[in-house]
This record gives sequence, C-alpha cells and structure tokens, in this order.
Amino acid sequence: MNVLLLGGGGREHAMAWRMAQSPLLTRLIMMPGSDAMAMLGQIVSGDICDKDVVLSAVKDHDIDLVVVGPEAPLAAGVTNALRAHSIPTFGPSKEAAQLEASKAFTKDIAEAAGVPTAKARVFDDFDAARAYVTEQGAPIVIKADGLAAGKGVVVAMSLAEALAAIDDMASGAHGEAGNILVVEEYMTGDEVSLFVLVAGEEIHAFGSAQDHKRIHEGDQGPNTGGMGAYSPAPMFSPELEQQAMDQIVAPTIAEMARRNIPYEGVLFCGLMLTDTGPRLIEFNTRFGDPECQALMMRAEGDLLAMLNDLAHSQMPLRPVTMGANHAITVVMAAPGYPGTPQKGSSISLPNQLGDGCMIFHAGTKAHGDQFLAQGGRVLNVTATGASLQEARDKAYDLVGQIDWPEGYARRDIGHRALKD
Ligand code: AMP
Ligand code: GLY
Repeated sequence: MNVLLLGGGGREHAMAWRMAQSPLLTRLIMMPGSDAMAMLGQIVSGDICDKDVVLSAVKDHDIDLVVVGPEAPLAAGVTNALRAHSIPTFGPSKEAAQLEASKAFTKDIAEAAGVPTAKARVFDDFDAARAYVTEQGAPIVIKADGLAAGKGVVVAMSLAEALAAIDDMASGAHGEAGNILVVEEYMTGDEVSLFVLVAGEEIHAFGSAQDHKRIHEGDQGPNTGGMGAYSPAPMFSPELEQQAMDQIVAPTIAEMARRNIPYEGVLFCGLMLTDTGPRLIEFNTRFGDPECQALMMRAEGDLLAMLNDLAHSQMPLRPVTMGANHAITVVMAAPGYPGTPQKGSSISLPNQLGDGCMIFHAGTKAHGDQFLAQGGRVLNVTATGASLQEARDKAYDLVGQIDWPEGYARRDIGHRALKD
C-alpha cells in the first residue's frame, strides 16, 4: 500500500514511525514531512492545504490511502476533495471538522444532543458580550469561535480579565477567529483527553492522555500548543470512560449523522472530570500533539491496517489496542516560545536510544550530523515504562543526553498524576 501522510510535526513523525512498522506498507510519502522523517520514507514539498497539490501528489505516487495529521487541511476541504475523487482518506470532512473549527457549532451540536458541557452564549456583538459577562461575573471563560492555534481561550478569574479578553478579540488579536465569541461557564476538575475512532455511527475508544498547556512548571504562564503529555490518564477509570462514551461521544456522533454530517476519523474529546461526571470542554478533529506521540508509543497492533479500515469505513476495525504500559512525552521548545521562537540553535542528539525511547521531531532542520531548531516546539522526547514514574525517569534521562543548551523543557510533566 502506498500512503501519503500530510503534516510534518511531532505528531506526524510519531504516526509515520508507527505506520512504517506495518507489513502492509509499500511506500510512505510525507508532505511536507521533515528532515528527521526522511529516514522513514520519501519527503515531498507542497502546500497540504491546497487540494490540487495534494491530488496531484496522490496521482504522481499512486497513493492508496491519505492520512491527515493536522487540522488545517480539514478546514481547507482537502479531505472532501480526496473523497470526491474516491481516494480512501483518514480524516473528517470540512463540515464534520467544524467540531474543532467552530466552537459555536460544537455548542449547538452539544445542546441538541444533550451532551453535558459548560453553559454558553455565542456573541457577534462585543458590547452585548461585555454586558453579559458583567452580569455573570468571574470566573468566566472567553473563547474565540474559530481556529486560534490553542491560544483563543481565556479563563478569566476576574471581571477585568474577562473584559480585557473581549477587548483583545474586538481589536482583532485572533483575526477572523475572534469575530464571533463564545462566553462559557467556568468548570473545575481534572482535565482528560479521550481519543475515539469513528466511522459512521461506530465508535471505538482508543486511549486517554493528559496534556500540559502552560509554558512553565506548576502550570504557570501563557498557554502553548502543549508542553508534554502522558498516557493513560490514571484518574480516568474505565467507568468514567464508559460514561464519556455514552453521554458525550455517542450522542454527538448520532447528532452529526442526523444532520447528515457523518464523522469519520479520530475525535479528540477534551473533558473535565467534574463532581457531576465528565463534561465536554471541546472537541478536536485530529490526534493531539503531543498526546499522539505518547499514544503511538503504547499502541499495539498494525496502525496502518486500522487507519485503512477507518478510511474504508470497514467495521469492525482491525483495532490497535493500548498496551498496559505508560508513555510520556516531554516537549523541548526554543527560547521565545510561545511567542516568536529563536531559530537556528544547534542540537546534538545521542547516537543510541534506550529501549522504549524515541525522539520525535516537531521543528528541526538537518545540518550535517546535527539538527537546527526551526520552530517553537522542537523535540518531543518520549519514553515508555511499566509505570508513569519509570516512563518519566527515562524521558528526563534522555532530555539530559540531548546537547542543546538553548532548549527549554518543563521539568514537571506528569506532576498531576504523580502528585509531586
Ligand atoms: P479549549 O481550547 O477549549 O480546550 O480551552 C483551552 C483550555 O482552557 C482548556 O484545556 C481548559 O483548561 C480551559 N477551559 C476551556 N473551557 C473551560 C471552561 N468552561 N471552564 C474552565 N476551564 C476551561
Ligand atoms: N495538545 C493539544 C492539542 O493538540 O490540541
């Protein structure tokens, strides 16, 4: 089977690494991929959000399956174009991907489906939003409706902060994503991510994880795309998972089907474990980054066979199940992130990695036998272990072996589960 993978970050590096282990794979083409991914297949350049570019790569390389990593090609309608040409594709349609691309759409679906979530109001008039927030008081949550790279949410602990967030959106800080805003009730509890594979109305829980969104230790500082993750989330019991599948995932998928917007692909459910049970925070319509890196390390079975089954809506899936082990990924970021990262510092990686250890590249460029930092999040140092503590010790040991003085990593990934 010839596979085209769209994307070139740490998530796609991990997916490529896993697919490359499949006996079904003939050739793996990655667009745009990365220098580090080149050892797993062939890199081709191109704009992954341009349907014509993707379709011509499919033709040129005689592709049997397209796997979409990030959200941008979904919102650009690339999966629709591929399906219109009868090309098996892993990733939801543009319409279904509104579950990530529009928080207002998601709130509407959740309400119609009776999904437990924060009470919310949608505004396109900033003055009306200010009046509502003033009446409700803090804490309160202000969200840009559209895609804002994980930075469009302000959890305001005071009214002044909430009003400042609305001013920010009114002044265009999030571009078009902030033209509509969603004001939400504040929820408290542990946050868990549940990944669910979906084809039609078939749903299959894949695994759970927890992310660390803030840049600094102790969950301080600005939000990022994620500074580290681990899987499984130990507080997410099988009973809570079943509750989330029954009360959140199944009704959402059924409501999507009822509206003739069938969901296909992976649904990333951001959940808050509140006193009254799991409640929906948000959906994403792709694997999490860096959660995916931890999931791929635990996965047992043929990932490519499963993605292919999903793309063909072939149920039951040849499932990939999660091992009994734990995995953790520690993000190493360039100075300046999540603002403008400094590019170009050089990175020397160890020649040999220990058992159950991987370094996935999120933003590097090859330079002789070294790499140069090229992005904000640069490396995803990932390890497995029989316990989360063991996985964490191995991951930080590996961070210590990486010669990159400029690199920044939080030292406390896993702290909530390990209670340190
Ligand atoms: P989102 O992009 O919607 O996942 O929001 C980013 C982060 O903001 C979440 O991971 C939560 O930590 C926080 N958050 C979002 N919505 C709420 C809410 N209604 N109550 C409390 N925290 C929230
Ligand atoms: N790590 C969070 C995300 O991928 O959205």
